[in-house]
Amino acid sequence: MSVSKGSNSIIGGIDARRIAELRAAEAEIFRKARPKSQARTGNGIAGYFDGVPMHWMTDWPTPFPILVESARRATITDADGNQLDDFCLGDTGSMFGHSPAPVARAIRKQAGRGLTYMLPSEDALAVGTLLQELFGLPYWQIATTATDANRFALRVARAVTGRDKILVFNGAYHGSVDETMVRIKDGKPINRPGLAGEFRDLTKRTKIVEFNDLPALEAALQAKDVACVITEPVLTNSCMVLPQPGFHDALRRLTRETGTLLLIDETHTISTGRGGYTQTHGLEPDLFVLGKPVAGGVPASVWGMSEETASRYAAYNRGKEPGYSGMGTTLSANPLQFATMRATLEEVMTAENYAHMERLAGKLAAGLAAAIKRYHLPWHVMRVGARVEFICAPGPLGNGAEAESAHAPELEAAVHVALVNRGVLIAPFHNMMLISPVTTAAQVKRLVAAFTEVAARLAA
Ligand SMILES: Cc1ncc(COP(=O)(O)O)c(C=O)c1O
Repeated sequence: MSVSKGSNSIIGGIDARRIAELRAAEAEIFRKARPKSQARTGNGIAGYFDGVPMHWMTDWPTPFPILVESARRATITDADGNQLDDFCLGDTGSMFGHSPAPVARAIRKQAGRGLTYMLPSEDALAVGTLLQELFGLPYWQIATTATDANRFALRVARAVTGRDKILVFNGAYHGSVDETMVRIKDGKPINRPGLAGEFRDLTKRTKIVEFNDLPALEAALQAKDVACVITEPVLTNSCMVLPQPGFHDALRRLTRETGTLLLIDETHTISTGRGGYTQTHGLEPDLFVLGKPVAGGVPASVWGMSEETASRYAAYNRGKEPGYSGMGTTLSANPLQFATMRATLEEVMTAENYAHMERLAGKLAAGLAAAIKRYHLPWHVMRVGARVEFICAPGPLGNGAEAESAHAPELEAAVHVALVNRGVLIAPFHNMMLISPVTTAAQVKRLVAAFTEVAARLAA
């Protein structure tokens, strides 16, 4: 946490000058080890606005993006031949490892049978039942990104409740769904700072309260004008915030009492275990969303409805005027998605794989916590299943506002580059690390050793 600005400031318990020195020294090491990457990406990649094909490639704290040669299991090899133990795993898209063997086989097989045809395949028949069995909801639809799945599920919520508002928790992220892009500032809802081209006041239709703040939630739902509360079970898109005991029970009770639907977005918390946080902790959502790793890295997402939500939606559809529903996208529910989803659901999201992920993630969290303790850093470690995060501030954090002030971008950037130089890649957003079924104990050991070395350097 920054206690003062300027050259003498302390960030996360560390003198800002020491952080700047570490960052500069590590940047130099990074450059020296990557002449090919630097030549190819260092001055911006030709043909792309801002020199990158996707704007968040400039969010990496490294001096330039690493040019990837290949990724296998939980290891990335870059164009200069450096190997990185990959704990970023595409920020969850490859949470089950890079090109899991069953998924790669499914891709090869489907490649000879056509990639998209707007009609169901044998795999589509299997996936419907697999989704029911694994996640416990009876009715499903397929989309391509979690963003789209959330957008469509929110439409259903509005349609069946006849209400136009939604509620999000401060600090949440559910993809680039316009109406979720709000924040609390000085106690008031505002459009999330930095939105490009957004001319609407999103707070007119979106209520926002702090996670874990039940009185505020109760007050916000009282008018019975909210169609849906959309939330992750654990806030993972700010520094990680766990639900306080009783929070989910109260959230479900309050939403039911006010006729508000509950959408649980499991796109990140699928790390929790088989069936996600929902199945592990017995949540009862009306709507459920999962994207990113559901097809082992091939773009696909799913959204599910409870029996009651589905029958209300069917009734709504019978009564509505004919015409375009506002939900779609041509490439969704294509046979490649079904082939890879089937492989993932049947052969990758297994209890054995989750047991391995859970065991190594526990080891990783313990190793990081030990280093933090050893060097008396005012930091803490959080975990939801295979997803682990170290946070450069004391914890646990209670809500999005606390998570925002715990974020220490300069310090985190220095640590990330130092870790890369020690052969470890973690997610560029926050300090997120994922354990896959193919991550090895040796990789976890290397990450803990690298982190300990960097912590010692910062604390010296
Ligand atoms: C909880 C959650 N939901 C949805 C999304 C959006 O996923 P996508 O970018 O694949 O649309 C994200 C992305 O980080 C997420 O963290």
